[in-house]
Amino acid sequence: MVPRPFQVLESRFFTKDDPREDRYVHWSRVYEWRYVLDMLRKYRPRTVHNTACGGLNSGDCLHLTFCADVSALCPDAVHSDLWGGGYPGTETKPPGDRFEHHDITEPHDRTFDFVLNVSTIEHLPSDKVVRTLDNLLGQVAPGGHLILTFDFPDIDLQQIVDYFGVMFETPTDYVTNGRLAFVLVHVVKS
Ligand SMILES: C[S@@+](CC[C@H](N)C(=O)[O-])C[C@H]1O[C@@H](n2cnc3c(N)ncnc32)[C@H](O)[C@@H]1O
Repeated sequence: MVPRPFQVLESRFFTKDDPREDRYVHWSRVYEWRYVLDMLRKYRPRTVHNTACGGLNSGDCLHLTFCADVSALCPDAVHSDLWGGGYPGTETKPPGDRFEHHDITEPHDRTFDFVLNVSTIEHLPSDKVVRTLDNLLGQVAPGGHLILTFDFPDIDLQQIVDYFGVMFETPTDYVTNGRLAFVLVHVVKS
């Protein structure tokens, strides 16, 4: 068997015991972004790519807050998205942030200490998920981290199981909005 080029640190559903940060408001971001920020505080990466960070039509206040928080912790962070020109005015763009347009289904030409992908791959066509995971991992520098979150069952979990070689148990106290639960995969690149 070909060795996988990463080590899985965590792969699990978020549960009601997870730390949360209510200023992120959204039912899953209160957990997802808190987890990401805790990991940035813990590992202090020099470079971070917040992929698919959010565009004009998807709740900018939350995303701006998150981008500003990432930038505060990691001033070299790059935030990227596909649509809308992202953050049109300097009045709403956190100072020091760098934004770029990047389609996560396409390779990126740089590597980073941390690559973040929060609640996005479930929105992709199923046949683009594996290619996107390849692209996200391809952006991670050796020894760097990829943090991925996504909604379930809006994604084919078997694709994730096969790709990362992990199992997911569904805990009884998983966080849900009534229809969805959400899942975390955190890996370190070899
Ligand atoms: C549910 S939002 C999540 C945004 C942000 N990551 C967050 O934490 O709130 C999904 C985001 O994925 C972005 N997106 C969807 N398909 C994409 C693609 N192929 N490349 C880059 N971004 C994409 C959209 O612009 C949108 O901002």
